[in-house]
Amino acid sequence: MKVGVFDSGLGGLTVLKHLISDYPNNEYIYFGDTFNLPYGTKSLDDLRNYADKNINFLIAEGAEIIVIACGTVSSNLYEELKDKFDIPIIDVLSPTIRYIKENNLDNVGIFATPMTIKSGAFDSVVSSFVSCLLFVPLIEDGKINSNECDEAVIGYLKELGNCEYIILGCTHYPLLSEVISKYSDSKLIDMGKCVSKYINIGNEGRLSVTLYFSLLSDKLLENVSNIIDVSYEIKEKRL
Ligand code: DGL
Repeated sequence: MKVGVFDSGLGGLTVLKHLISDYPNNEYIYFGDTFNLPYGTKSLDDLRNYADKNINFLIAEGAEIIVIACGTVSSNLYEELKDKFDIPIIDVLSPTIRYIKENNLDNVGIFATPMTIKSGAFDSVVSSFVSCLLFVPLIEDGKINSNECDEAVIGYLKELGNCEYIILGCTHYPLLSEVISKYSDSKLIDMGKCVSKYINIGNEGRLSVTLYFSLLSDKLLENVSNIIDVSYEIKEKRL
């Protein structure tokens, strides 16, 4: 099966990684919109425009199912996107909420982008939330192991207060799991894991992974190689 996955940049690779590991016999085609990054502070109209272009591109490349590997697009636009195209569209939010409800998790907080927090999409399952403006630029700039990143994590954890669980409500944030766990005992909920647990895709064929980014740089190439540990083809494509 040909599975299309997209995000604003590197973040969706944390979702792709789980899909590849759980369903290693598919063709995966990824689009990271690094030219328009970050999505978390964009208007709804901009997000809609990016999501439409990304999905149409993946469909034109042969995708038979689309995974919106972006918390911001999922929380703001999933309801309209799921009925707009002829192929199944999967978001990262519904499986995460399902996981929390099925496991009766309590005292759950969330870190997410400003637009995801503003959407209120997680309000029914979280008791506290923090909008983490600094995380995506730190991750995309390859500054995960910097004092700056540690300080941001410490500050956001303080703002969140004590939670037994923290939803990493932006797909970039699992890349900060180690840093967060250095300063907190909260259990982290990775949306990519939740998607992979509940998604209904086949697993017959040969693995192939093609990654497109709307803006490629040496830093990005290095970051990707640190996340994806199977062989892949990587290309620049401006939509
Ligand atoms: N990784 C995306 C998300 O899950 C987008 C982050 C951004 O570009 O601000 O929200």
